[in-house]
Amino acid sequence: MPKMWAGRTSGKTEKIADDFNSSISFDSRMYRQDITGSMAHAAMLAKQGIITETEADELIDGLEGILKDLDEGTLEIDPAAEDIHMFVEEVLTERLGDVGKKLHTARSRNDQVALDVRLYLRDETVSFLSKLKQLISVITDKAETYKDVLMPGYTHLQRAQPIFFGHHLMAYAMMFLRDMDRLGDGLKRINVSPIGSCALAGTTYDTDRFFEAEKLGFPEVSLNSIDGVSDRDFCVELLSALALIMMHLSRFSEEIVLWSSWEFKFIELSDAYTTGSSIMPQKKNPDMAELVRGKTGRVYGDLMGLLTTLKGLPLAYNKDMQEDKESVFDACDTVHMCLDVFTGMLNELTALPENMRKAAQNGFINATDLADYLVGKGLPFRSAYKISGEIVAWCIKNGKVLETMTLEEYKSFSELFDEAVFEAVDLNNCVNLRSSFGGTGLASVEYQIKTVREKINA
Ligand code: ARG
Repeated sequence: MPKMWAGRTSGKTEKIADDFNSSISFDSRMYRQDITGSMAHAAMLAKQGIITETEADELIDGLEGILKDLDEGTLEIDPAAEDIHMFVEEVLTERLGDVGKKLHTARSRNDQVALDVRLYLRDETVSFLSKLKQLISVITDKAETYKDVLMPGYTHLQRAQPIFFGHHLMAYAMMFLRDMDRLGDGLKRINVSPIGSCALAGTTYDTDRFFEAEKLGFPEVSLNSIDGVSDRDFCVELLSALALIMMHLSRFSEEIVLWSSWEFKFIELSDAYTTGSSIMPQKKNPDMAELVRGKTGRVYGDLMGLLTTLKGLPLAYNKDMQEDKESVFDACDTVHMCLDVFTGMLNELTALPENMRKAAQNGFINATDLADYLVGKGLPFRSAYKISGEIVAWCIKNGKVLETMTLEEYKSFSELFDEAVFEAVDLNNCVNLRSSFGGTGLASVEYQIKTVREKINA
């Protein structure tokens, strides 16, 4: 078939060039957005008297028909088409004849593709927001269930201070809340209509860009036509928000991998989200968590790829920009899968409180509390810290922990010790006394759960 743009050239191209140039294999997923945009465009052209109302009706009916046929699978995407925009226009013209050729008045594929991608990513963002909300709600439910389950908190992956598992889980709720915030913020910049920028300079036709934007639900219209067709910041912003989501999922996944190991055994993953080994019969592998962690690199790659594609581009449109879509789509697809799988896996995860408590009892994670106790007796913190450190060293040598020392043994380190020391090093007390705002104390964990629930339901 001769190219729609044949004229200046013969339009006869090598197959290898066509294949190289074509984006239909990945942009056909935007057919709905493309057709919706075209309907709004036809309506605008008629309202402005650029085409007649009858012509607009014909175009809109024709577009509706194509949409329906694509939805139902009675019309197949032609893999030989250059891109989704050309494909829709070609089918429309085949079906309507000359009227079909009027659709592309006062627009260009440059503003058309920018519009389609914005419409597509707007829907994607809304879907990510609802998936994050779902994930956060699973996290808060788990946090509620395990709000007073004692475990060691870590720094340097060394047992540090006692915390409640609910508190640890809620840390992740905060990250995903910020991710929601970021996506919502990015949505403001996705939600700007580029259509009517045309090839790069605007148009001589008396168009109404605001009417078209309003029809498509855009609260804003791009102020500069060159920027309108050249801007892909909104893609980069979405990718970077997605990269952060993956980073958070990946850190969480790493902990799940660790916690489900025999060395920790803090949690049990549901069979439904684990795999076995083809050779080792004892294995129950946390593949889902590992894959989420692994796919993080892939989304980072999408972000870096797009940034690199854009960095040297002169204004306005360049064909390089066709490369935006595969990065963005790949990242979107990956994050969708990861959020779905991770949320399902987390929902079915069970904690093993006894193991957590046991680990908490064996790492001297109440040593800070011992020092604080001595501070309460009037010692400066540094001196208290030193004595507590010596006690820990003595315990390690003598196979004891702070809870199993006798008062006499305590007194051999300082005369300041009395019976109350046993309360001070009691792990439950240690956690609950951390009642500072945002701390691990039970009231604080409950407050976090309540506040986060309010936020996601707002
Ligand atoms: N397939 C192209 C893309 O994705 C559409 C825009 C083509 N514009 C052009 N001037 N060749 O970027």
